[in-house]
Amino acid sequence: MEIARSSELSVRPATDDDKGAIYRLLQIAPYHHIHVDWHVPVDWLGTPGFVVSEISESGGERAVIACLAAAADPPPAAWVRVAAIQSGQQPQSLLKLMLQQVVPYLRDSGIRELGWFPVRLWPEQWIMNLGFRQVNRIVTFFKEGTEIPSLPDNGIEIRNAEVTDMSELAALEEEAFHPLWRHSAQGLRLAFWQSQSFKLAEIGGRIVGFYYSVEGINRESAHLVRITVARGLQNQGIGSALMASALDSFRRRGVRQVTLNTQVDNVSSHRLYQRFGFRRMEDELPVWALEL
Ligand SMILES: CC(C)(COP(=O)(O)OP(=O)(O)OC[C@H]1O[C@@H](n2cnc3c(N)ncnc32)[C@H](O)[C@@H]1OP(=O)(O)O)[C@@H](O)C(=O)NCCC(=O)NCCS
Repeated sequence: MEIARSSELSVRPATDDDKGAIYRLLQIAPYHHIHVDWHVPVDWLGTPGFVVSEISESGGERAVIACLAAAADPPPAAWVRVAAIQSGQQPQSLLKLMLQQVVPYLRDSGIRELGWFPVRLWPEQWIMNLGFRQVNRIVTFFKEGTEIPSLPDNGIEIRNAEVTDMSELAALEEEAFHPLWRHSAQGLRLAFWQSQSFKLAEIGGRIVGFYYSVEGINRESAHLVRITVARGLQNQGIGSALMASALDSFRRRGVRQVTLNTQVDNVSSHRLYQRFGFRRMEDELPVWALEL
């Protein structure tokens, strides 16, 4: 990868040796971002989409002042997974320089879209000028209690997922989601190890959908992270059966409140959640993307 260099500022691929500096930045920098997923920032070290900006200090020492990691998991869409900019720097020009390094590599790898989902809103003021457009918003749904509406018995079996199921589940993700929102088999494996409950639906021995959840803000709450149904089998009650199973296992654990997130334009998911007594909350978070 070509290295952008000014008299004192350079952008170069991040290496293992930068680990300490990157974690320090993520802790102390006023502008920092870690994508909401199952990875940790160092997972992306060594990938060409992870770069650091450094400057010369007196005595010739170099100091890392910013970093950015963009990675696809899976292609053809990538997310900004990590970003941080030390105080006293110019965020927009640093972001621009780092993106100039990363974007050609993403394009060459067949990536068509770079998403940025900032839970803290600081990037907005700069990324709009760098070509990012708001492509969606994330909304939260909330349910008090774990009541389940009555459902027809339609032969859907629910069982605990095994780690060996993840490749098959990744194929369902590919069918069901726009590229930006898909999880890879590896991403699902990480979710499998870190989630509290991970179950799948089968009809006649064929996997047709799955969900997983984590503990919420306290032991009496749960967060339903994902619910996915095979594209050709939607609207046949599978999502409802998965939701009923999730609520039943929450009830057994003494859960009293359930939350989940979805995209503002994902109307079929809203209908499912509302049928199960979830209410849409007012807060929304924007999702940005750069077309490559
Ligand atoms: C959102 C999603 C999980 C819903 O799953 P689903 O299996 O289609 O949901 P259901 O079949 O239970 O419910 C959908 C509709 O089918 C109807 N339905 C339920 N059982 C049925 C049956 N046996 N026969 C025919 N229709 C049925 C429901 O009444 C419901 O109608 P509504 O849309 O008017 O409310 C699914 O569309 C999906 O995987 N989408 C892509 C991934 C996604 O967006 N996930 C959620 C965000 S993370």
